[in-house]
Formats: sequence, structure tokens, C-alpha cells
Amino acid sequence: MTKTIGVIAIKGGVGKTTVSAALATDLANHYGKKVLLVDANFSAPNLGLHMDILEPEKTIHHVLDRKIHAKSAIQEKFGVDVIPGEYIYNKSLPYLKLKDRLRPLKENYDFIIIDSSPSLNDEVLSTMLASDALFVVTTPDYPTLSCTLKAAKLAKQRGKPIAGIIINKTRDPKYELNLREIEDSLDIPVVAKIPDDKQVIRSIFSRVPVPLYKKNSPFSQEINRLNAALTQNKEKKSFLQALIPFDFNKERINREILKKSFYTNTFQH
Ligand SMILES: Nc1ncnc2c1ncn2[C@@H]1O[C@H](COP(=O)(O)OP(=O)(O)OP(=O)(O)O)[C@@H](O)[C@H]1O
Ligand SMILES: [Mg+2]
Repeated sequence: MTKTIGVIAIKGGVGKTTVSAALATDLANHYGKKVLLVDANFSAPNLGLHMDILEPEKTIHHVLDRKIHAKSAIQEKFGVDVIPGEYIYNKSLPYLKLKDRLRPLKENYDFIIIDSSPSLNDEVLSTMLASDALFVVTTPDYPTLSCTLKAAKLAKQRGKPIAGIIINKTRDPKYELNLREIEDSLDIPVVAKIPDDKQVIRSIFSRVPVPLYKKNSPFSQEINRLNAALTQNKEKKSFLQALIPFDFNKERINREILKKSFYTNTFQH
């Protein structure tokens, strides 16, 4: 059964595109899944730059403008089918039609990953409506958390499932909100905690998604653990983790719950 996953945040620069590209390339290359990756950041698309598509000929903008069928906007990159965005498209489009336009493609894939816009308007709504499950990306600071609360509220109002929070760019726990504080504020489980990782800027510079640029980087490993839950696989544990009989890692426990519920319920929190 195809799952369409929206990666959202009502805040720019938290890592939606980096995470979307990483989830997609890891699912395709390390779990052998058929994946479609879509740029739905319509006003400021840049997924193509992460996926080494510099001059897309056909884009999601042309699809929404009814100029072409969604299938003809697909470009294969790094084992993933990508529908990029047009870097400059000076015309407002029926963004909420995204779900309809992607529908004919759905049966061809195990996963469709949608990279969303941070704009609190029809742009982010289009991702919410087109998705079966949403992940909210946040950084562990108060200003971002307040935006994340807005995203969670909007998703709830729209009756859309939120599968979990991805905390990105953790740096210094002394000056950051911790997992419990974030979970308590949002009432949504944290399913991944990704550190600030210098391999990320290197990978973006090289235009190779992080899981393929550096498979064993902390960023890639956490993405791979989240994908283990999404694909119903066991997480890879380090030698040390395998020796510990009890698991005190809350995000790992949350991923186990996510794994059990991913194909059965609708993640209403
Ligand atoms: N875990 C990380 N460690 C280090 N740098 C990161 C990490 N995640 C993302 N970044 C960096 O943060 C910047 C913003 O990331 P990204 O473009 O994915 O954010 P975004 O939420 O998609 O932004 P926008 O809302 O503008 O589309 C990028 O330069 C990326 O290199
Ligand atoms: Mg982005």
C-alpha cells in the first residue's frame, strides 16, 4: 500500500528539504523501495538543488498549470523519481489540486515523499491534504517550537494525521528544549532526533543527498532508523546498544510504536 508522507514545518530553514531528500534516497537505496519525491514548496522550490537537478524542463508547476501530466514531469535521480519545482514561476496556481494531480501515479510507488513550503497558506495546506501521514520538522528552540505548534494545530483542524516530530539540528542540550518538553508541548511523539551534522553542508555542496554522500554520518543513521519503522524493518543497533537489555531511548520506543501503527491507524493525537 502506497504511503504519501508530507514533511512540513511553518518555519523556513529547519531542514524539511534536506530531510525529505534523505528519507527518499535512503528508502530507495537502502530499503529497495519505489519512491516518488515531490517539491511542493511552490514559491521557493529548491529540492532540485539537493537532488542535482539544476535546470528542470518540466516541473510540478507545469503539472498544476495543467500543461502536462504528472508522469511526464518525473526525472530519475539517485534511484528516486523526482518531480522538481520551477525555480521561478510568476503565476499563482491551484496548489490544492496537488493531491488530484498525483493520484494517477500513486499505485506505482511504495512511498511518495512531499517536501512542503513553510508558508501558512494553501501551499502547506496542499501538502497536508495530499498526504496520508505528516512529519513535522522542528529545531529545539522556543521560536521554532511556537511555529511547530501552529503547524500541529492546523494539521489537527484539517483532520490530518501527524505521524511524529523530527527534531533537527540538535547542538547543545544545555541551551535547547529537550525531547520531553517538545513532546509535552505538542502532544505528538518525537520519532527522530537528528544532530547538527557537518556532513549535511558538505553533501548539499556536492548535490548528493546525505545518505548517499555519507551513509554512516549521524544524520544518515537517524534517517535510516526512522525509515526502518516506515518499512517495517528492524533498526540497526550499534554494538554497544545491542549489549543493553533495556531501551531507554524514547525516540526509539516511539519508532517501535510508529512501526506497529503506520499501516493501521491514522495517527490522531
Ligand atoms: N542536521 C543538520 N545539520 C547541519 N545542517 C543542516 C541539518 N539539517 C539541515 N541543515 C542545513 O540547514 C539549511 C536549511 O535546510 P533546508 O533547506 O532543508 O530547510 P527547509 O526547512 O527546507 O527550508 P525552506 O523552508 O527554506 O525550504 C541547509 O543549508 C542545510 O544544509
Ligand atoms: Mg525547503
